[in-house]
Amino acid sequence: METRHIDLDYSYYSDRCELPEEDRILLAAAEKACTTAYAPYSGFRVGAAVRFDDGEVLSSSNQESEAFPSGICAERGLLYFVQANRPQKKIQSLAIVSSPAPTECTPCGACRQVIADTEQRQKAPIRILMGGERSTIIVKSAQTLLPFRFTLTSAKE
Ligand code: THU
Repeated sequence: METRHIDLDYSYYSDRCELPEEDRILLAAAEKACTTAYAPYSGFRVGAAVRFDDGEVLSSSNQESEAFPSGICAERGLLYFVQANRPQKKIQSLAIVSSPAPTECTPCGACRQVIADTEQRQKAPIRILMGGERSTIIVKSAQTLLPFRFTLTSAKE
């Protein structure tokens, strides 16, 4: 038996103005997407935005259902849309914010799996920007947020 360790590197910005302009723009797009959320049940609006390596930005938001579990998280809905409509493109960065923003908006477990799946498929890391009201946490890869992601090792792509 051996004990192994996983190191988790992340950047913390106490103020969004410390970030490069591209990141501030992406966080602003995610923030704007919060206004399109349909969240009458939780009252918690989430916005997500991706930037592709060619500079295109797309965004989405969480959508809830009267049959509560049928709703979809902002980042998962967005990534499924990307897979269906921009399958050839590579995502460089994904920003997530919420309203209200009691703290930085970190993705739920199911979304972490889907972000990690997307990263694996595109064979390039996805930077994840988790915005708070002023602060931001950034990780360089989805793997950081979900080591030991589930894999169907025998599945063909
Ligand atoms: N939500 C997201 O959109 N993303 C997450 O990663 C976690 C939670 C949404 C789902 C639900 O509409 C609301 O936030 C409260 O859980």
